[in-house]
Amino acid sequence: MNKRPVLFIFICLGIFFFCQAISPAQESDNPYQKLRVNSMRIEQRILKLAEFGRNPEGGVSRVAFSEADIQGRNYAMSLMKEAGLKVRIDEAGNIIGRREGSNPELPPILFGSHLDSVPNGGKYDGSLGVIGAIECVQVFQENGIITRHPLEVVVFSDEEGGLVGSRAMIGRLTPEALEVVSLGGMTIRQGIQAIGGSPDKLSQVRRQKGDIKAFLEIHIEQGSLLESKTIDIGVVEGIVGINWWEVTIEGFSNHAGTTPMDRRQDALLAAAHLIIAVNRVVTSVPGRQVGTVGRIKADPGAPNVIPGRVVMSLELRDLSAEKIYSLYGKIEEEAKAIAEKTDTKIMFSPIEAAAVPAPTDPRVRKVVADSARELGLTSILMPSGAGHDAQEMAKIAPAGMIFVPSVGGISHSPREFTRTKDMVNGVNVLLKTILKIDRGALD
Ligand code: GLV
Ligand code: MN
Ligand code: MN
Repeated sequence: MNKRPVLFIFICLGIFFFCQAISPAQESDNPYQKLRVNSMRIEQRILKLAEFGRNPEGGVSRVAFSEADIQGRNYAMSLMKEAGLKVRIDEAGNIIGRREGSNPELPPILFGSHLDSVPNGGKYDGSLGVIGAIECVQVFQENGIITRHPLEVVVFSDEEGGLVGSRAMIGRLTPEALEVVSLGGMTIRQGIQAIGGSPDKLSQVRRQKGDIKAFLEIHIEQGSLLESKTIDIGVVEGIVGINWWEVTIEGFSNHAGTTPMDRRQDALLAAAHLIIAVNRVVTSVPGRQVGTVGRIKADPGAPNVIPGRVVMSLELRDLSAEKIYSLYGKIEEEAKAIAEKTDTKIMFSPIEAAAVPAPTDPRVRKVVADSARELGLTSILMPSGAGHDAQEMAKIAPAGMIFVPSVGGISHSPREFTRTKDMVNGVNVLLKTILKIDRGALD
């Protein structure tokens, strides 16, 4: 009789029983291996949240401190309570939902994002980070998991107006910044009051280095790198610095029919030259820096009057603060020449909303990448061209960000879209990352 087939069957059976024997041991090493977030709940909640401030184009206009923002915040607070979190609004208007851990000596792990949007924005920017954070806690609650560290879900106030809530949390929201007019028309001071904060008591919000075990934020990529490379997860290595200026151009308002072309002081013409100069300067050196004039107002704003005054914005972004300031210096030079040529005055005034470039914590990056790999997901290390509260939190705590693909790389637009499966992948990575950090991955 040929013994080889019998031997083969015995070897196969041996391998089978060996695997059976070791797998329970691996499971007991990590009882959370199979824990997954609820895909349908995430999708439904993202869509429900998008009803607050829904715009006709299918996105959201939920500018900070607006009625829609308040409604969205109330909805998030109700979900937080459902997930067993103890909810409060801090003095900066941030919503904090806390769940105690088993060891009261340990600092909390924070995770979250923002609910406010740009005017005419999309449904996913910020919202995913909030819904995803609440989802993780809800899964812990449903599975009776008590972490060692306390957990805090954070909804930062007015992210789009210059990372207001997170700047307050690290002690960088100055009294001058409170007087800045935010996207919806209120000053930040008025806005914080409108959402239940106390702008005169911001020092109570401040956390110091060592107060937070780690800060984590899941967010849509808002660019097209992940989609173009067909990669599931972006592990963020650093977040760009963002500087804003208000540019005022003074000319002279005069009759558009009777003032000859060579006797005009047209502020809008000067602005047009300056906008082109911004583009030229920013593209004149290699790198990923970007520069934008996103807002402009000409006065008096009539077809038959030469504009005598223009107020416009200037935004510069890069991973290096030095580069931002060197570009700004060149733009100022160009502005001097334009002012002379157009017989106008051009003045730049920095807006108290600057976000400093920040690297994420290399140890947190590794935990995020490991979590993705264990879930069978592909990941890539990448920079963030968008600003995030994580860049402020990175100054006082080990911070990390998880990106998921944005279809077509579109964001800050009603056409912003991220597939449910991609959101769910990211939230599963967040869940695993929280558990690994809780179990000592950063120690
Ligand atoms: C925030 O969304 C920003 O990058 O402007
Ligand atoms: Mn945004
Ligand atoms: Mn955002």
